Amino acid sequence: MKKNKILITGGQGFIGSHLVDNLLAKGHKVTVFDRYYDEKKFNDYGWKNKVVFMLGDLKDRDSVLEAVGHHDITVNLGGLLGTAETVHNPLPPVEVNIMGAINVFHGLKEHKKRGFQIAVGNHWMNNPYSITKTTAERFALMYNKEHGTDIRVLRGMNVFGERQNHRPVRKIFPNVVIPALLGKDITVYGSGNQIMDLIYAKDFAEILARVILYDGIPNNIIYEGGVGGGMTINKLVDMVIKLTKSKSKVNRVAMRPGEEKDSVVEITKEGWDNLKKHLKFAPKNLMPVERAMAQSIAWYKKHLNEFPWN
Ligand SMILES: NC(=O)c1ccc[n+]([C@@H]2O[C@H](COP(=O)([O-])OP(=O)(O)OC[C@H]3O[C@@H](n4cnc5c(N)ncnc54)[C@H](O)[C@@H]3O)[C@@H](O)[C@H]2O)c1
Repeated sequence: MKKNKILITGGQGFIGSHLVDNLLAKGHKVTVFDRYYDEKKFNDYGWKNKVVFMLGDLKDRDSVLEAVGHHDITVNLGGLLGTAETVHNPLPPVEVNIMGAINVFHGLKEHKKRGFQIAVGNHWMNNPYSITKTTAERFALMYNKEHGTDIRVLRGMNVFGERQNHRPVRKIFPNVVIPALLGKDITVYGSGNQIMDLIYAKDFAEILARVILYDGIPNNIIYEGGVGGGMTINKLVDMVIKLTKSKSKVNRVAMRPGEEKDSVVEITKEGWDNLKKHLKFAPKNLMPVERAMAQSIAWYKKHLNEFPWN
């Protein structure tokens, strides 16, 4: 397989870091483009002499254009997350998730390079995060149709695993695991019957790698990364309590703004068909969820002092 020079915006973040490891293992050259440099991560992840770092902001069109031009493929993972967290301040996600993405697409068009845009499973929710990610997804498809670019789009369901932060955005997995390990109350918003499609970060990184590396796959469809057979939040909490042997209690509070009661976010049948047909990715390629959770919990246990709880 051809060895590419790959630029990953937001490459220092949770998903980006797993993608970097996946691509390095496949022998590609990787550049991380991020708005700050985290030396600890570069040391801990063993990237010091392997990964190039480029300090830059997606909002800065000139530096994005230049960075894209120096790479074979650009993966746009940089973004501002948060459903409830963005409701009262929608402008930053608009600037980064939409305008930043358009800067990347513009660079891909000008330099005639392959690109990638990450999208979300809860694309239909009316919060600034989902709205902005979905707008960028639609712009990617528009660039492909009107400007002949090759930007592949993948919607991530609920990605979990080692290295995911618990703050400032309250992603579900670390916000159940960390209090469970500390014996603190676990907060559940709403009934806990919301259905999520939890996919292990290393499996998601492999799907993403195939989306960007495979030649000739269609770029006018939206790929989906999930496992199917979603799980309720209540079930996740039960599994984590069992795996950690925790004595934590569950504290039930009202739904957060920006989220929907009893929502279902899950890969579609068509999404699975596309994974099999275009990416040769089948359910047997996934790590069983209990093993993936146990592995991730072991990592959080080891790194617990890096996740202050309040
Ligand atoms: N975590 C999930 O379950 C999930 C699901 C679907 C899609 N996504 C998408 O995947 C991407 C990565 O998510 P994550 O969970 O790794 O989040 P993360 O917060 O860990 O990573 C985001 C990265 O983007 C960088 N970034 C933010 N603004 C930037 C800017 N203006 N310029 C350059 N870099 C910037 C951050 O510094 C960070 O390193 C996001 O675009 C997110 O919308 C995540």
